[in-house]
Amino acid sequence: MQRLLQLDVRVTLSLLLLLLLLQAPTQLAQHHSPNPSPIPSSSDAMANTEANNVAEFSRRLANFSVSLYGKLIALKPNTNVVFSPFSIQTCAAMARLGAVGDTADELDRGLGLVSSDVGKIAESFHQVLAAYEKSSILRIANKLYVMKDYELADEFNSLLAKQFLSTAENVDFTLSAQAAGTINKWVEQQTNSLIKDLVPASLLGERTRLVLINAIHFKGNWVHQFPEHATRNERFHLNEVDGVDVPMMNLKERFRYANLPELDAAALELPYKDSDLSMLIVLPNSKTGLAQLEQKLRTTPLAQITDKLYSSQVVVKLPKFKAEFQVELTPVFQQLGMSRLFSDNANFSKMLKSPESLKVSAIVHKAFIDVNELGTEAAAATAAVVRMKRSLISLEQPLQFHADHPFIYVLAHGQHLPLFMGAVVRLEGAAARGEAHDEL
Ligand SMILES: *[C@@H]1O[C@H](CO)[C@@H](O)[C@H](O)[C@H]1NC(C)=O
Ligand SMILES: *[C@@H]1O[C@H](CO)[C@@H](O)[C@H](O)[C@H]1NC(C)=O
Repeated sequence: MQRLLQLDVRVTLSLLLLLLLLQAPTQLAQHHSPNPSPIPSSSDAMANTEANNVAEFSRRLANFSVSLYGKLIALKPNTNVVFSPFSIQTCAAMARLGAVGDTADELDRGLGLVSSDVGKIAESFHQVLAAYEKSSILRIANKLYVMKDYELADEFNSLLAKQFLSTAENVDFTLSAQAAGTINKWVEQQTNSLIKDLVPASLLGERTRLVLINAIHFKGNWVHQFPEHATRNERFHLNEVDGVDVPMMNLKERFRYANLPELDAAALELPYKDSDLSMLIVLPNSKTGLAQLEQKLRTTPLAQITDKLYSSQVVVKLPKFKAEFQVELTPVFQQLGMSRLFSDNANFSKMLKSPESLKVSAIVHKAFIDVNELGTEAAAATAAVVRMKRSLISLEQPLQFHADHPFIYVLAHGQHLPLFMGAVVRLEGAAARGEAHDEL
């Protein structure tokens, strides 16, 4: 049976992050940490316009993303890592607003925040959160669960509500199963049911005081859709010798492309419809070049790659892929110089009205990505477009971008703000499943 309909390629990404704060098990630690001296941030001088602020925010987030990526692949080697640097940074920044002293300083440095002034930190996130408040394809939501009978400190509460657009809700963590159910239901709603049962009841208990969550969900269509009939089983090389046959999407279109000899790689930008978001794919030239590329990316700002993109006809091969990734981030934060928040010396005294000593007990991050083909109403129109392009006589020699071996991708906002990042290092072979139309 031949399918003649053109179908949309839909990309779905969803994930969230969760921070748990528990009462410190021991005495009220009285280690007095010096007050953070307000660092006159260098961004103040240059950044009087919102655009400059967002650019600086993005540059720092991109740096944080690459650091995180390096730690995650070391923690979970040979895995299709996918995570949201923005989500992780946002959630940790929410906790930062309640921190003081060394705990705050470590977070400012480790997260690469734009300032050590809570008002300025909150404002930098507000610009991004407000920009997507009404977006239909990207949803970002922040939430705070507070132990019943506990009250948030006024400044903390107002910064989270006004700047992080977060809502707070009281729950009884001693009824851990019920509390986990409440939280998981909210998460499910925010992620289009893609993430279920995120919080095990065992993580909650009578010492839990706060749970901070950032959920982010993205669902977008490509500007240039991949025609389904062009998807066929093709080889994805895992290394020089091994490979698997996977459903490979094919398309020849005008895209922004860059040759990156200094990285021994090439980059391609796949834009999403009705948005300023796109997926940047960075593909090593060699089948076994991923590790070396990862090394080089540590010292290459994202902007340095995107600045080199130019428009050209490109023959693209991209595998359909799905990945789910869950990680507990405590060791990663510690390796990035943020340890105090987990220790009995943590100081989050600006969170609650009651003078309790708090620390972070876990940071759970879960991400899901699905790059696949699904039917839409726009079928006929798409088919027409594809046929027309094929008949165009082009004198320009198309470039080849064959993502048929491990690659890195970054889903970013126009100004290089990385919302999601990941790598495809392995794929399941397309087993002889019934009704595989690609066999025609
Ligand atoms: C936290 O810092 C505040 C302000 O510096 C200080 O008054 C308080 O004693 C500290 N709490 C702990 C547990 O160290
Ligand atoms: C990038 O992050 C690292 C820490 O991961 C930090 O040492 C460095 O100063 C940052 N670079 C910039 C340009 O912000």
